[in-house]
Amino acid sequence: MYGSWNFVVTLIVISLCRQVLGFWPFDVLASSDSPDEVYDTSKAKRIAIIGAGAAGSSTSYYLQKFANESGLEIDVTVFERSSYVGGRSTTVNAYDDPLIPVELGASIFVEVNTILKNSSEAFGLDASNAETETAEILGVWNGHKLVFTQKEGGWAWWDITKLIWKYGWAPVRTNNLMKKTVGKFRKLYEYPFFPFRSLSDRAFDLGLTEVTAMTGQELLAANNIGPPFSTDIIQASTRVNYGQNLNSIHGLETMVCMAIEGAMSIKGGNWQIFDAMLKASNATVLLNTAVDVIAKDKGKYVMKTLPNNTTSISDIAPQDEEVFDTIVLAAPLQYSGITFEKDFLRHTPDEIPYVNLHVTLFTSTLPLNGAYFNLDPGAEVPTTILTTLPPDEVPADPRHGAGSTGFFSISTLRTLVNPKTLQKERLYKIFSPEKITPEFLTNILGAPMPDDLNTIAIDSGDAISWYYPHEWNSYPYELPRVTFEELELSRGLYYTSGMESFISTMETSALMGMNVAQLIVDDYNQVLEVDNSMQKVISEQQGQEVEEL
Ligand SMILES: Cc1cc2nc3c(=O)[nH]c(=O)nc-3n(C[C@H](O)[C@H](O)[C@H](O)COP(=O)(O)OP(=O)(O)OC[C@H]3O[C@@H](n4cnc5c(N)ncnc54)[C@H](O)[C@@H]3O)c2cc1C
Ligand SMILES: *[C@@H]1O[C@H](CO)[C@@H](O)[C@H](O)[C@H]1NC(C)=O
Ligand SMILES: *[C@@H]1O[C@H](CO)[C@@H](O)[C@H](O)[C@H]1NC(C)=O
Ligand SMILES: *[C@@H]1O[C@H](CO)[C@@H](O)[C@H](O)[C@H]1NC(C)=O
Ligand SMILES: *[C@@H]1O[C@H](CO)[C@@H](O)[C@H](O)[C@H]1NC(C)=O
Ligand SMILES: *[C@@H]1O[C@H](CO)[C@@H](O)[C@H](O)[C@H]1NC(C)=O
Repeated sequence: MYGSWNFVVTLIVISLCRQVLGFWPFDVLASSDSPDEVYDTSKAKRIAIIGAGAAGSSTSYYLQKFANESGLEIDVTVFERSSYVGGRSTTVNAYDDPLIPVELGASIFVEVNTILKNSSEAFGLDASNAETETAEILGVWNGHKLVFTQKEGGWAWWDITKLIWKYGWAPVRTNNLMKKTVGKFRKLYEYPFFPFRSLSDRAFDLGLTEVTAMTGQELLAANNIGPPFSTDIIQASTRVNYGQNLNSIHGLETMVCMAIEGAMSIKGGNWQIFDAMLKASNATVLLNTAVDVIAKDKGKYVMKTLPNNTTSISDIAPQDEEVFDTIVLAAPLQYSGITFEKDFLRHTPDEIPYVNLHVTLFTSTLPLNGAYFNLDPGAEVPTTILTTLPPDEVPADPRHGAGSTGFFSISTLRTLVNPKTLQKERLYKIFSPEKITPEFLTNILGAPMPDDLNTIAIDSGDAISWYYPHEWNSYPYELPRVTFEELELSRGLYYTSGMESFISTMETSALMGMNVAQLIVDDYNQVLEVDNSMQKVISEQQGQEVEEL
């Protein structure tokens, strides 16, 4: 029944050893009195999660939840190389005042992002309207003129009744297409589509590869949505959200950019969701600890870490080394600095181009300079400026996608009180493909800047009172594709970041974390089932063979 003669022979050998010599011939088998304890299932499974961003924190949170539901014992350690939880979801302090945190990375999530929404409610975090809500006037600039302006700016611009006035039915068609696409995506959360072992297969099952296979422009054209609505509004959105134009970003991510109903953010910083997830998960969280090398030995993973700010093996004397049953890599492999000792990976994720995004935060009493945006003196000047390309400009290389405007967006986030002068100031955020120059700031504010922006200080008397530049590998260039990285790179070694070529958001990283958590628990449970039936076979056979002998 159970195959070969060899198997029976093996069982006989086992039986003999056990009967005659009093031990089991496999080191995996713990010494014990009853055959039921042969396979050591009593020890908690050791799981390492690399990265404490949205994906890693969610993996840890749902692992605890799913393991608890199925009575599985786990022992989870989260390794994070930076000094904080949140990854690309993090805040910095305006005027260096810890009471005034500002999002430096991911700033908004939306109503349909149920993992983030539910967990922020469960953790008692204050999810308020997105920070850009307060922007009073929104303009879309193409380098020559403002092609669209609307009062009540920020995320309220997606007011279809107002857009129909200017663009006809294109906004309605876009909204319907967005709803249809988001509806398909939402199925990923539910049985029978959840959990999924292959994102490629599941995206195909749900008809989503049809929209990832084409550019936003192609998808829109196929649905009878064209310029000027697509270029003025939809492209302004793909640029501010992903630094990409409709001729290169795929259709699914284009639709994500239009799904902005109920935009919100956590007061004080979105990272608090991930912090609360980790705390609720009972995992051991090690900050300032980079995973450096992963090796495989006797079916287990041996992980070497670099404590704190050391940058390579040679920097430190003894490396910390720990053994795990399962590893979750919850960060893009290409930026993780991790080496795999010997090539035991079944799948190695491709290196893909990421958008190199410069985020520049600053405060100033000054409004934006209308003259730079070719406005007549005295005309109302937008507080937030999104950008698009002029009709005749088509950058072939996505990396030069900003085009002649040179930037993706300038937003007024909110007004603040300068703690030194007690004057009201505006808090600005610029997204651009290159470092912001003093000339550019001089242009957009209409006031001279110091040659070295780093000399700006709250009491330096400059037109800017606080200046904070940061460079991110923010998200992939979402080029059309129909396959996505494997989730299991090797047995028991999971990878979450393949999700980012499909959709790169906090929610989708968290969804991948939840998915991987379910797969891990399912895998352990199946192993246990096999173990139990094996034990049954072994004990039955044992009885028989002993009699036969
Ligand atoms: C400027 C900007 C704006 C954005 N805006 C939005 C937005 O408005 N809404 C939205 O939903 N998304 C937005 N995103 C995208 C969003 O931030 C990401 O999709 C999401 O946060 C990715 O989460 P993650 O956990 O997969 O990866 P990450 O957040 O990158 O987390 C990975 C973690 O792993 C750690 N790590 C890496 N290597 C190692 C190692 N060897 N050892 C230990 N630790 C390691 C890193 O330090 C990091 O903390 C934005 C991103 C940027 C940069
Ligand atoms: C699951 O959680 C409940 C409530 O916190 C706890 O009482 C129970 O012991 C947990 N079960 C396991 C197997 O961890
Ligand atoms: C979020 O909460 C709603 C309402 O309780 C529930 O139906 C849904 O399954 C939850 N989703 C997730 C991902 O937790
Ligand atoms: C929390 O983890 C520790 C091991 O790190 C374990 O001993 C303890 O039982 C866990 N508690 C819960 C509630 O899961
Ligand atoms: C790592 O360095 C930071 C300061 O850079 C320090 O606060 C922290 O305690 C250190 N952590 C470890 C684990 O050594
Ligand atoms: C890194 O460690 C060295 C000493 O090992 C210390 O002098 C330096 O300040 C540390 N840097 C950071 C950023 O923690």
